[in-house]
Amino acid sequence: MSQRLLIGIDIGTSGTKTAIYTKDGTRLAVHTAEYPLYQPHNGWAEQDPEDWWQATVEGLRTVLTAPGVDAADVVGIGLSGQMHGLVMLDEGGAVLRRSIIWCDGRTAAECEEITARVGAERLMEITKSPALTGFTASKILWVRNNEPEIYQKCRHILLPKDYIRYRLTGALATDVSDASGMQLLDIAKRDWSDEVLQALDIDRALLADVYESCEVTGSITSAVAALTGLREGTVVVGGAGDNAAAAVGCGAVRDGYGFTTIGTSGVVFSHCKELRVDPDGRIHSFCAAVPGEYHVMGVTLAAGLSLRWFRDCFCAAEQQAADTQGVDVYKIMDDEAADIPVGANRLLFLPYLMGERTPHLDPFARGAWIGLSASHTRAHCLRAVMEGVTYSLRDCLTLFSAAGVAQPEYMMACGGGAVSPLWRQMLADVLGCTVRTAASNDGGALGAALLAGVGAGVYPSVPEACDAVIRVRTEQAPIADSAAAYEPYYRLYHKTYASLRGICHELADADTNR
Ligand code: XUL
Repeated sequence: MSQRLLIGIDIGTSGTKTAIYTKDGTRLAVHTAEYPLYQPHNGWAEQDPEDWWQATVEGLRTVLTAPGVDAADVVGIGLSGQMHGLVMLDEGGAVLRRSIIWCDGRTAAECEEITARVGAERLMEITKSPALTGFTASKILWVRNNEPEIYQKCRHILLPKDYIRYRLTGALATDVSDASGMQLLDIAKRDWSDEVLQALDIDRALLADVYESCEVTGSITSAVAALTGLREGTVVVGGAGDNAAAAVGCGAVRDGYGFTTIGTSGVVFSHCKELRVDPDGRIHSFCAAVPGEYHVMGVTLAAGLSLRWFRDCFCAAEQQAADTQGVDVYKIMDDEAADIPVGANRLLFLPYLMGERTPHLDPFARGAWIGLSASHTRAHCLRAVMEGVTYSLRDCLTLFSAAGVAQPEYMMACGGGAVSPLWRQMLADVLGCTVRTAASNDGGALGAALLAGVGAGVYPSVPEACDAVIRVRTEQAPIADSAAAYEPYYRLYHKTYASLRGICHELADADTNR
């Protein structure tokens, strides 16, 4: 008997995850293909859109040939992706340069230009954010200012997942949640802002058409059908930025429901029926993947990225042990960190390896261990990295009240970090709320598939899709003693950056390659 299957594709920073599900959320197959992150200068970050595409093709071919899967049963595809990345195409649809991605901090001068052109107040009123280096508008201006020959040839501007949509369907489309992070959208109107576009002298024709996340935006072309095994005409819905999609994938789709992710970035997120805004713009107010609704979120740029950096720089022995034992290196690192008590023997880590978004909005922020002594071992440094990322997420959560958003009663946890029971307990203790995980940790890929299910008529609405599929797997409440033990360290962490800011800025000036 034929079944209705859904595919979610999540174009992440470390890799692209492609997964195929039945309508009750059972995952039949999954594939992750990794690719490099290029850092040509301190604070810059780029990826090659062709890598995303190759990873997508590899993922589709793999899941479509898995046992029990018939491509003819696939009724919809949803896309999720790292937000904010700039993809520029020429007249013929060819990529003009590597994508400047979300954690790139090169555009401080362009942020000043944006503020001067639009006016700080209007920019906040329309885009609900001050000019940010992470967002796409400043990246567009950077290319115009620094690579005018490329800008001249540019005919289409797309976000990462929307480039994949273009390759799959030929459609030039985006969705409201991802478009929110371009700083060109009128968030309340859920459409491009002509006022901002005119002030920045960006032609609206360069931008994609904007859809709600569960609307159909196009369908699989015959060439892609031949390449991947998909059925020609399979519909592709708007999908969502990775955080809005992850919210769907863990059921944070009703007012006041929250989740936290430790992926490459770290996010604290709350769904809001109405638009809610921090007047200082320190947390983002974006359109949600639920039509007509919103979310707030704080973003720490280097969450899982900090741990991966630590692994790559300092954990060759753990990697070797992992390879020999056939276990995940992060499991070994987790066990090492678990042996170190709260506070890492008076060692703090600031995870600002790529600058910082929430709460500092400072591309020149940089990381630090504070309090290093000769008694510290590598395990203390590792524990401090995990604690520092968690404190940074608490800094994000603390700002919710500035937007009139209550602290969620519990948080779903997703992303690679949520696999670690140690990290989840740290989150519960430091954030001061119960932390749950869903039966599936696919986050964005599952969320995108559910959005496809709504678009294809499998579920009546996004919340009902979540009700049909999302189940709680684990729950960890704060442990009072540990929560109390973290408190003084969090207080110190919270005030440390104010003292380091000047030095970080002087260091940035000292760096001629910036
Ligand atoms: C959100 C953000 C990151 C990226 C990459 O504003 O910059 O979470 O979406 O995951």
